[in-house]
Amino acid sequence: MTVESCPVQQSCGGCPQLAVSRVAEQETKVEMVRTALRSRGIGSDVAWTDTQSPRFGYRNRMRLQVVGGRADFFNHAKRDGCAVVRDDLWAAITDLRAATAADSTLLAGVRHVEVRVGDTGTSAVGLAVSDPVESARLSNALGASWLVAQPSGGVPPTLAYRVATIDGVDVVVDVPITSFVQVNSVVNRSLVARVLAEAAASGATTFIDAFSGAGNFSVPLVAQGLSGTAIDTAGDAIAQLGRAELAGIECIEGDARRIGDLGLAAADLVVLDPPRSGLGDKASYQAVADLLGPTTSARVLLVACNVDSFAADVAGLAEVGLRVEQIAAFDMFPGTDHVETLAVLGRST
Ligand SMILES: C[S@@+](CC[C@H](N)C(=O)[O-])C[C@H]1O[C@@H](n2cnc3c(N)ncnc32)[C@H](O)[C@@H]1O
Repeated sequence: MTVESCPVQQSCGGCPQLAVSRVAEQETKVEMVRTALRSRGIGSDVAWTDTQSPRFGYRNRMRLQVVGGRADFFNHAKRDGCAVVRDDLWAAITDLRAATAADSTLLAGVRHVEVRVGDTGTSAVGLAVSDPVESARLSNALGASWLVAQPSGGVPPTLAYRVATIDGVDVVVDVPITSFVQVNSVVNRSLVARVLAEAAASGATTFIDAFSGAGNFSVPLVAQGLSGTAIDTAGDAIAQLGRAELAGIECIEGDARRIGDLGLAAADLVVLDPPRSGLGDKASYQAVADLLGPTTSARVLLVACNVDSFAADVAGLAEVGLRVEQIAAFDMFPGTDHVETLAVLGRST
């Protein structure tokens, strides 16, 4: 389904920005970030990052509902196409819908599933189900390339993602199919590259990666020679990062919003990538400031996918004495009204 426009853009409604030019979309997104920051008293400018992301065919995962055993889109308009989904993911979704339409017992009792693909060239497809299924029967029906994760079924299968290339060597992260993964691999690589560049520019040797997932930032930071601590509440993700047995990384399954209670040493680089609700409260802002190493080059990198919580967190971190150095926007979700943002903050004195 290689497309250069979306056949269902109006009826679906999920990608309002596909109705305007790419330049107009980017201007709108930059203005959204600026406006949210200004509403919190932050007047910093916002730099657009040219990521070379395709506007179509970038999405590597999608949730589907299951009704009467049949997998289907939450938004039925997508039955006629979804221009932002990757071709291999679309093919997998089509196969799953056909298989479960032919045999509605395969996903009996399941409420929803997530289908995803990796980005290192394998044909594997991940299927995480909300409720227990007979994996063997499902794999039989779908084929050996399908990896099924049960809701509480031991160690989940992983898919591989190339997140960076350092000195000509690819850095690959294995992400459990039950854990968070960035939806757009091309833009994610730009985001990771920016984090690595900030680490290098600041001369950081130690890091804290709060809300680390399976190590999207931690793994390349270690590959770049840093050592540090990764923290996430998702047991599958943090256990997978531990299994990678990287030298110089401690993995903590814990609450990064209570980062001050974890007994961590200060680090040169603190990366924060909370979920949409953001970091949240003054105690966590103060804890982040306290964990930032004493040098003037020490940096906090705040990554976010929700402009309102991003602006609130930037303002909160500024209130506890951090200085906003740069704000960058990344088009992680072309076509939609969403935008990924990064704030670089340092010590005021
Ligand atoms: C936006 S994802 C980022 C993950 C990772 N940095 C990446 O780029 O793939 C947010 C992560 O925060 C984790 N999370 C949610 N609440 C948390 C909390 N209170 N403490 C630690 N991690 C949390 C989720 O499990 C998820 O992995």
